[in-house]
Amino acid sequence: MAIYLRGGKVPARRHTQFKDANGKHYYEELISRLGFSDIYTNAYHIHMPTRVAEVGEFHPVKYEAVSGAHRHRHMKTFALEPQGNWLTGRRPLMFNKDIVLGTASPTNEAPDFHFKNATADEMLFIHRGKGRMESMFGTLDFGEGDYIIVPRGVIYKVKFESDESRMFYMESFGPIDWPKHFRNQYGQLVEDAPYCERDIRLPEFVEPIDQTGEFPIRIRLVNGVQDYLWGHHPFDLVGYDGYYYPWIFNIRDYMPKVGQLHLPPPSHLTFTGPGYVVCSFCPRPFDFDEKAVPIPYAHSNVDSDEVLYYVEGNFMSRKGIEHGSITLHPYGIPHGPQPGLLEKSLGKKGTNELAVMVDTFAALNVSTLADQIDDAGYPYSWQY
Ligand SMILES: [Fe+2]
Repeated sequence: MAIYLRGGKVPARRHTQFKDANGKHYYEELISRLGFSDIYTNAYHIHMPTRVAEVGEFHPVKYEAVSGAHRHRHMKTFALEPQGNWLTGRRPLMFNKDIVLGTASPTNEAPDFHFKNATADEMLFIHRGKGRMESMFGTLDFGEGDYIIVPRGVIYKVKFESDESRMFYMESFGPIDWPKHFRNQYGQLVEDAPYCERDIRLPEFVEPIDQTGEFPIRIRLVNGVQDYLWGHHPFDLVGYDGYYYPWIFNIRDYMPKVGQLHLPPPSHLTFTGPGYVVCSFCPRPFDFDEKAVPIPYAHSNVDSDEVLYYVEGNFMSRKGIEHGSITLHPYGIPHGPQPGLLEKSLGKKGTNELAVMVDTFAALNVSTLADQIDDAGYPYSWQY
């Protein structure tokens, strides 16, 4: 994140003595990417961050992929019943070497643990519901349309207030970033980027919790989850500063572009990461040329898979799509609007659609759960 943030109190100079009123040292921790060579935050703890009370169990996690026909897919994720919380309720639907994509319908069950994803950055897109994320760097209240971005290594937990919540999530094995061309040489978002720094919500610092006892921490590793017990509360920071922390951007703050003729998906670009892009399709007027065709032309993604998560509004370029639907249009065959939709779109002035797209550059595996909520008739929806 290219915004400098300071919370609480920090010493005047880094790596110097820093003590409380009784002369007891605080403990500095550097949290950084690419070894010591990329973005970082210096955090100051009441207790030593290296202290572990007990190493608990390791729980292996393995995603099962379906084998079988290569085809377009339409998954109706609202068919999945609410379960668990923001973490235990996750249902992985697609995955490859770069990302995992899935949905969750968390209940308002309060998590009795803290969590650190040590292997992936997370993008939690809140479709329905609201709640609060508490992290070592402070709190973020969230609601519908929020993209919550949690870099790997942040200790946090999420509590949904509402019992009818829906979330689309991505776990990314590389950093989730702002596209490079959105930024100038100093990292500031440029004037024609579709959002600016004011649209980014930063964590609000809360006073440290100085408690000892037993505090369960779950740490997601490459092949599973490791349970730990810490002897002190993990939110014991008296202060921090730097560029490493969770943040929120709301899809409704995305400023869509409009062209004379149809603009391709890169005009909706929102975030990038190794092996994928994330785009936001937002309400907007259609193209203004008198001969414009408002809906897209058929296209062949010769080297990518395209995932669309449908949020709100009418999706004019797709038939049979519901809120919470996910379509997967894989490499190898073209896709586009179904028969009759081109004619129907002519003369339309705008769209109120809201959707999140993830395009991957490596083929996605489909999980066995995704197969259960898939509409087997979807590949034939282009017949006429
Ligand atoms: Fe497409």
